[in-house]
Amino acid sequence: MDPIDNYVLVTGGAGYIGSHTVVEMIEAGYTPIIVDNLCNSSRESINRLEQITGKQIEFHELDILDERGLEELFASKHITQVVHFAGLKAVGESTSLPLKYYENNVMGTFILLKVMAKYRCKNIVFSSSATVYGDAKEVPISEDAPLSAVNPYGRTKLHIEGMLQDISAGDSEWNCILLRYFNPAGAHPSGLIGEDPKDIPNNLMPYITQTAIGKRQVLSVYGNDYETPDGTGVRDYIHVVDLAKGHIAALNHLSTKPGCVAYNLGTGRGYSVLEMIAAVEKASGKKINYKIVERRKGDVATSFADPSKALKQLGWSARYNQNDMCEHAWKWQSQNPNGYDPSPIDHA
Ligand code: NAD
Ligand code: UFG
Repeated sequence: MDPIDNYVLVTGGAGYIGSHTVVEMIEAGYTPIIVDNLCNSSRESINRLEQITGKQIEFHELDILDERGLEELFASKHITQVVHFAGLKAVGESTSLPLKYYENNVMGTFILLKVMAKYRCKNIVFSSSATVYGDAKEVPISEDAPLSAVNPYGRTKLHIEGMLQDISAGDSEWNCILLRYFNPAGAHPSGLIGEDPKDIPNNLMPYITQTAIGKRQVLSVYGNDYETPDGTGVRDYIHVVDLAKGHIAALNHLSTKPGCVAYNLGTGRGYSVLEMIAAVEKASGKKINYKIVERRKGDVATSFADPSKALKQLGWSARYNQNDMCEHAWKWQSQNPNGYDPSPIDHA
């Protein structure tokens, strides 16, 4: 008989946010089992997790579209909760390959939920995104702001939120927490785990740190004519460890049987692109080479969260500041110039 009787399945746990959450889960006394198909991550992240936590971590290289594989896992372990990170997240790619996104994100989640229902595991924390607010008319953005999709990636998040609302409405045993992340940044303070984009980064922070390390030559700043204090886009960057701790608060809250409920995970404060560049320059002591280019299609001027619901109901709020985020991101980048790949960097 397995002595552990309450595992938490972590889909996508080898990835950026998932790996940081696994560290916090272990610290909080949860026993995670990671499933990940490694399509956007590396097995080395599991070794690093074991190094940080001093624990052996159960890992299965498995695709959530593999219903049989998931069934075998649920049949062999008593899984009581699921934290569901697995998904594709490249907004641009989702526009050119929408079916890939619907299959992986929506169908993958459908299969996961079906297997969960079969094994009577009806507690899930889902990685949603501030993208579900589309082009929000007001900031700070609260959870009851209107929802809309501005690209196929965002639509997959809305579809999944809808599925979770429907199953909770139809069966009161389901508890689903939808965590709408703002802009995750930074890395574990150890510098052992962090964001490791497989291709050219789409997001600002990894692009800045890769420019600082010399892997990219120049950062394109997408527009300086927005209605913001310095003309560049403003976002709510949140330290990934704070985000990870938000998942622990959500897991704890599942035991109160909340039904289906959404929370913003953000700091409530926005920084512009130029402010983030300056902060990484300070943290790294490196000059970031950048140029102003045209606006990127689909970008909004300003987005930041009203995080008060998470504080009130989950007792969670972000603790790290912008300097911490940039220092930790730089520590990760400088200790691991090529991410989890040990080969030397190619200078672009
Ligand atoms: P990530 O790519 O680092 O992690 C996702 C992990 O899921 C990867 O390890 C990948 O290999 C795995 N995966 C993908 N499809 C899978 C499948 N079919 N089966 C098994 N594993 C699969 O991304 P992340 O930044 O850690 O994001 C985690 C979640 O948070 C995603 O759902 C993403 O959409 C969401 N999110 C991310 C951001 C962000 O800016 N990083 C913002 C809002 C929401
Ligand atoms: N930016 C640049 N240059 C770059 C990359 C980004 O100037 O090379 C700017 C953008 O124009 C924007 C800001 O930096 O003003 C942040 O851009 P990101 O791509 O890092 O983040 P987004 O806010 O566009 O989107 C991110 C995720 C989405 C998610 C959203 C909300 O990519 O998936 O946060 O969580 F939905």
